Amino acid sequence: MQKIIVEGGKKLEGDVHISGSKNAALPIIAASILNGGTSKLYNVPNIHDTQMMYKILEELGCIVKKTKNKVIIDSSKVNKYEIPENLMREMRSSVILAGAIIGKHHEAVFSYPGGCDIGTRPIDLHLKSFEKLGIIISKNYGNISCKCDTIENTKIDLDFPSVGATENIMLASCLGIGTTTITNAAREPEIIDLQNFLNRMGAKITGAGTNIIEIIGVKKLKDVSYNIMPDRIEAGTYLCATAATGGRIKALNIVPEHITPILNKLEEANCKLNIGKNFVELVAPRRLKAVNIKTMPYPGFPTDMQSIFVAMLTVAKGTSLVEENVFENRYKFTSELERMGAKITISGRTAIIEGTRRIHGTNIAATDLRGGMAMVIEALVAKKKTEIDNIHYILRGYENLDKKLTNLGAKISLKVGE
Ligand code: EPZ
Repeated sequence: MQKIIVEGGKKLEGDVHISGSKNAALPIIAASILNGGTSKLYNVPNIHDTQMMYKILEELGCIVKKTKNKVIIDSSKVNKYEIPENLMREMRSSVILAGAIIGKHHEAVFSYPGGCDIGTRPIDLHLKSFEKLGIIISKNYGNISCKCDTIENTKIDLDFPSVGATENIMLASCLGIGTTTITNAAREPEIIDLQNFLNRMGAKITGAGTNIIEIIGVKKLKDVSYNIMPDRIEAGTYLCATAATGGRIKALNIVPEHITPILNKLEEANCKLNIGKNFVELVAPRRLKAVNIKTMPYPGFPTDMQSIFVAMLTVAKGTSLVEENVFENRYKFTSELERMGAKITISGRTAIIEGTRRIHGTNIAATDLRGGMAMVIEALVAKKKTEIDNIHYILRGYENLDKKLTNLGAKISLKVGE
């Protein structure tokens, strides 16, 4: 297992270049199946999750040529429609491939993605939506097979504005017959990026970013080149890590409008911000002020920033309340922070955080992607050394994490453990 070793107590100072968005790249990589041709993608983050998607595409018959942050995908020779179970279980977000495979080839086989460390992660909204599109679904022992003669576009109202279900409906219906209208659609910026990508391919989609999305089916989609949007959660992560360590940072290559709720809370915590067109500068106060957070679907405060804020608020002055309203089990990481001296009480959906200055290093283990990143932030603040195990979780979503933090003055190293 790989470990991260951090000598804490250093202020983060300097510039950080934010990578392309993991959560925009994954559905767009899946969408490359739809044109049965070539898709050239730029500003793709070189992380575990994008590598996994390439592996699955190759299993299906795609030819994938990747350099650092560019990938060329040829989907003209796709001849398999089954997502391998082991890869599906390793990365639950690969369920997004189902919509693309069915949309193009009218059949797909995949397994239940299984839960992860932030909740059961059901896919009932995906499956119900597929059935509404005329897709016949049969299940046996955890395997799900989907078949249809054509995709019959229709009206779909989502019980919950699920990001993945919204994306899967867009992918499954853009080559369908007629028009699909999604109501109560997710409004995340990554959905807008997917719409822009699909329309660049020749799809006819409008409304992404609002809660009503319309997809008019077309006959064919063409070759495409596209630049992935910046990662709003990575941007928020570096701003919070800097705020926690009392430093100053300029986060470059970002879309400030995507992180308004995060910036508002950082200002409320007494950080000084200078917001540019495609950058944000932050100067931390001597000591952060406690703030209260409630996570909500976009444009509310993002659930992916919840653990990052909890870590930052463990050293704020005062008591903070954080309420997690999107996932049912997203506080697993807090027990590891408590072992470092953080004062956190979990009561139902709420974490009560009593700020302290006494955070000390110890050996801990990551439990999931964003919880693991919260541990890195705690380690940056802690006195002395912290060793974080199971960092494969963290490397799923943060490109060049050790290099970017080292460039900001952190004393951090990666160690391939036994
Ligand atoms: C996407 O996950 C993101 N992942 C998540 O980021 C993010 O936290 C989440 O959206 C919410 O913003 C990717 O984009 C790859 P949902 P997704 O469907 O699509 C329930 C990260 O750290 N639900 O909006 O899985 C579900 O259980 C990851 O980068 C159903 O009940 O999220 C959850 O409680 C973590 N039935 C809520 O909806 C369904 O069929 C939100 O899930 C689908 C979802």
